[in-house]
Amino acid sequence: MRVLGIETSCDETAIAVYDTTAGLLANQIHSQTAVHARFGGVVPELAARDHVLKLPSLLTQALAEADCSLAQIDAIGYTQGPGLQGALMTGAAFAKGLAVARGLPTLGIHHLEGHILAPLLDQPAPEFPFLALLVSGGHTQLIAVRGLGAYELLGESIDDAVGEAFDKSAKLMGLGYPGGAALSALAAQGDRTAIAFPRPMTDRPGLDFSFSGLKTAVALSIAQGVPHRDVAASFEQAVIDTLVIKIIRALNQTGFERLVLAGGVAANRPLRARLAALMKERGGLAFYPPTVLCTDNAAMIALVTALRVGTGQRDAGSPFTVRPRWPLMALESG
Ligand code: KG4
Ligand code: ZN
Repeated sequence: MRVLGIETSCDETAIAVYDTTAGLLANQIHSQTAVHARFGGVVPELAARDHVLKLPSLLTQALAEADCSLAQIDAIGYTQGPGLQGALMTGAAFAKGLAVARGLPTLGIHHLEGHILAPLLDQPAPEFPFLALLVSGGHTQLIAVRGLGAYELLGESIDDAVGEAFDKSAKLMGLGYPGGAALSALAAQGDRTAIAFPRPMTDRPGLDFSFSGLKTAVALSIAQGVPHRDVAASFEQAVIDTLVIKIIRALNQTGFERLVLAGGVAANRPLRARLAALMKERGGLAFYPPTVLCTDNAAMIALVTALRVGTGQRDAGSPFTVRPRWPLMALESG
């Protein structure tokens, strides 16, 4: 089966082609960062308009990269949620239009399911069950993944997501938007022990996180004149330590030996290195996909589409709905 995946939930327009035998054949991504940068955040209406503008040419490029035509596509999957309503609608409408024209089945896919299963596109692929740490601009969740659609939320951030904390701290240092990667690059030149930032919510039991206080502590240090590189390094270290403490708890609680890192913040190198070392120490395995599969992409959407269409799932009809708020736990298994 050959599947076209379409992702437009936020500020990346992406189209991928995934073949259940040949693997990932195309992975086209257009980032809208330049459109939103001067506003310091994603402007929903501009995001939707840019998706509409870019989808047709991205489809042409994806088919060219995969060296195939629409006639060879068997199903179309699109991100149905969660995400920005207008942005989601552009991808859904594009998918439905193509599907009607070609007489193809469609399936609406959950963006976060895409993120946590993206590592299955990499070699070696993790086996079920595994612990997923989903860290993106919008989410910080620890999820027990027992199979397709069998997800248990173990803990999550009660306020800012990790990526959001990175981005807000980066903004305070004038590093632009989204500044997570830039903050991490600056941190590499700083002293990680310069400031003893809190490791929030690690002194009590449970697997939830809180990162908004850390951002406030960063603002205070900057106001006190601590060099940005030291603030960045100490902040990154505090985030990593906090995540590691909760991951160890979650591994002990579930008895899982495999850890999968997903979402945009999974691109963070010190975090990857630390988790790789942790899993080695425990005799387990750490999995993280290459960066292009960690940040928003359509390959993960095409993959989940193939898995679910493969078990007979498809949208009920042509009319479409998007689900800007859609809890991952509401998903059913394949
Ligand atoms: O998953 P993603 O592409 O978009 C969603 O939020 O859905 O994640 C983007 C987030 C942003 O907050 C960005 O600053 C962060 O991932 N990010 C990083 C790094 N690369 C991207 N954060 C820390 N270190 C990085 N190297
Ligand atoms: Zn995402």
